[in-house]
Amino acid sequence: MSADAGRLIEVDRETFDPWRIQPVRHRLADHPLLQLSSLVELGKRLESRGRVRTHTSDVTPGTPFNNAPKLHPHRMSAANTLQQIEQARCWMSLLNVQTDDTYRTLVDHVLDDVKPVVDPVDPGMCYRGGWIFITSPNTVTPFHFDKEHNFILQVSGRKTLYVWDHRDTVAASEESRDRFHACHERDRLKWDESLRERATVFHLEPGQGAYMPSTSPHMVENGDNASITVSFTYYTRATRHDSLLHAAHERLRHWGMAPPAVGQNTLLDFLLHSGFRSAIHARELLRRSLGKRPNTDGAPYAIAS
Ligand SMILES: [Fe+2]
Repeated sequence: MSADAGRLIEVDRETFDPWRIQPVRHRLADHPLLQLSSLVELGKRLESRGRVRTHTSDVTPGTPFNNAPKLHPHRMSAANTLQQIEQARCWMSLLNVQTDDTYRTLVDHVLDDVKPVVDPVDPGMCYRGGWIFITSPNTVTPFHFDKEHNFILQVSGRKTLYVWDHRDTVAASEESRDRFHACHERDRLKWDESLRERATVFHLEPGQGAYMPSTSPHMVENGDNASITVSFTYYTRATRHDSLLHAAHERLRHWGMAPPAVGQNTLLDFLLHSGFRSAIHARELLRRSLGKRPNTDGAPYAIAS
């Protein structure tokens, strides 16, 4: 990885492929904004805006990801939890940290740093986001996938990250991806212990990380210590194109049709993309004319609900 050894995230410029899972190294483990004392203050600010997600350590790899906070609620405040994370028996995520002025600077710093490597092969970086995960010892992040491309970086503690190829239809069916892109539901994603054999496995220590393409299923198991992990995420022209097609295919399923997988019928995909893109543009024009805020996946930063 010599070509990019001076960057915050070391990515091999010559071999970087936006649709391939790959290891990375980084220089953020000592960053002052990623130390626990700073995260306690960030947790207070984000909690007041409803941007903290948490559950207890009782979750398993097969716990439905979307419902984990309801199934295993953790009721302590963010500040108290973070101050005693070694004993708290919980998983906590500070969401959309780019909505905080201080942390938006960090998100931009990191993604501006990696953009020269990404852009030539995957242009159109947008919808930038940052997510910080603070977890008690021996805690699991359930099996799930996300829409964004993701640089996931270990800051402190150790964890094992399992990632499956975004084209692996055993790990995640085409139907599960269609539904997820259409309405953010992950209920067609099913965990099975046998999936471990199919995964790319990273044993992450501080300074190490991985790059996961959009909708690569993943599951994480903490080591015997508390852990801090940060994800820097974004969409590109290609992820937005892929997402829109999956959402369109879900609509066809809703209408009783059985479309081929995204990418298998070029003409169908072209027609669907053109039609749905036009409909989205019309919706955004309507929102603007009514004085509403834009709601587009082409926004510069992830839109926090
Ligand atoms: Fe995730």
